[in-house]
Amino acid sequence: MNNPYLSEPAKIVKITPQTDTVKLFRFEFVQKVWGYNFSFAPGQFIELSIPGCGEAPFAPCNAAGAKYLELCIRDIGRLTHKLHEMKVGDKVGIRGPYGNGWPIINQKSKIKNQNGEKKNLLIVVGGLGLIPLRTLILGKDKFLGKDIKVQIFYGARSPQEMLFRYEYAKWRENGIDVKLTIDKECANWVGCVGLVTTLFDKFPIVENAQAFLCGPPVMYKFVLEKLKQKEVTDQDIYLSLERRMHCGLGVCQHCAVGPYYTCKDGPVFSYEQIKNIPGVI
Ligand SMILES: Cc1cc2nc3c(=O)[nH]c(=O)nc-3n(C[C@H](O)[C@H](O)[C@H](O)COP(=O)(O)OP(=O)(O)OC[C@H]3O[C@@H](n4cnc5c(N)ncnc54)[C@H](O)[C@@H]3O)c2cc1C
Ligand code: FES
Repeated sequence: MNNPYLSEPAKIVKITPQTDTVKLFRFEFVQKVWGYNFSFAPGQFIELSIPGCGEAPFAPCNAAGAKYLELCIRDIGRLTHKLHEMKVGDKVGIRGPYGNGWPIINQKSKIKNQNGEKKNLLIVVGGLGLIPLRTLILGKDKFLGKDIKVQIFYGARSPQEMLFRYEYAKWRENGIDVKLTIDKECANWVGCVGLVTTLFDKFPIVENAQAFLCGPPVMYKFVLEKLKQKEVTDQDIYLSLERRMHCGLGVCQHCAVGPYYTCKDGPVFSYEQIKNIPGVI
């Protein structure tokens, strides 16, 4: 029987810097030790390990169906620092995917709320929060259908901190409404300035919206207030929770949130599901 803690060796085949501290790593699986056939749903996560540095969860973000895995990773601690020192050809371990991902019923169906009503999609993200939504954005037509409207509100500290910025033109060509803001004014920036909530004051949100949120916890509180003002119901708001994780399998209890394990029951929860759990956000 396969050991669920066993990682599959994966080789770095490409590194694309995104910001001063964030790089996009492309991996290929080199050895099919366990007959590993990697695929994932948007919003799930994997555990990446480096011998002597432990392991940590990251969200796959490549286009669906690609023969490689892409992870966009900030250099923040022991494991990620080691990874950022690695070069093309170096190897890491990957296990997963884990978790539930965004509530896309299946690839052919449209996003629907709990009453079966078809919804458009408002993505509200800050900083690294764009990462677990890139697969869904790149595969909009495949995952959601051509007739679903997608609007993105993305806030970053500065233009240089915006992830995947070389792709926004293509996203827009594919009919996605991308609205951007930066925290503080800076030279050569003619767009919005202010936190991501500023965008709610400047632009109408897509009608009949279901909202997917991902970003720092402090962002959630203020975005939830804005969504309430716009009469988006708690059932139509989904957010990805970040918690310290170890096993990723619902065994070690490190990621418990009320009655849920973030690794197994999440990381995506509807706001309706978690809103009464003290300290959840
Ligand atoms: C489901 C999920 C998906 C993630 N996806 C990504 C991703 O795509 N890209 C990315 O760059 N990061 C992602 N992260 C965060 C990443 O797993 C952590 O930053 C990880 O701890 C880095 O490992 P490290 O050994 O380098 O840093 P560590 O030495 O573990 O920690 C560095 C610093 O970050 C803090 N920290 C670490 N993890 C958390 C946490 N979960 N909550 C609050 N503070 C924390 C520590 O307290 C410390 O200050 C994700 C986390 C989760 C739970
Ligand atoms: S990380 Fe072990 S139970 Fe969730």
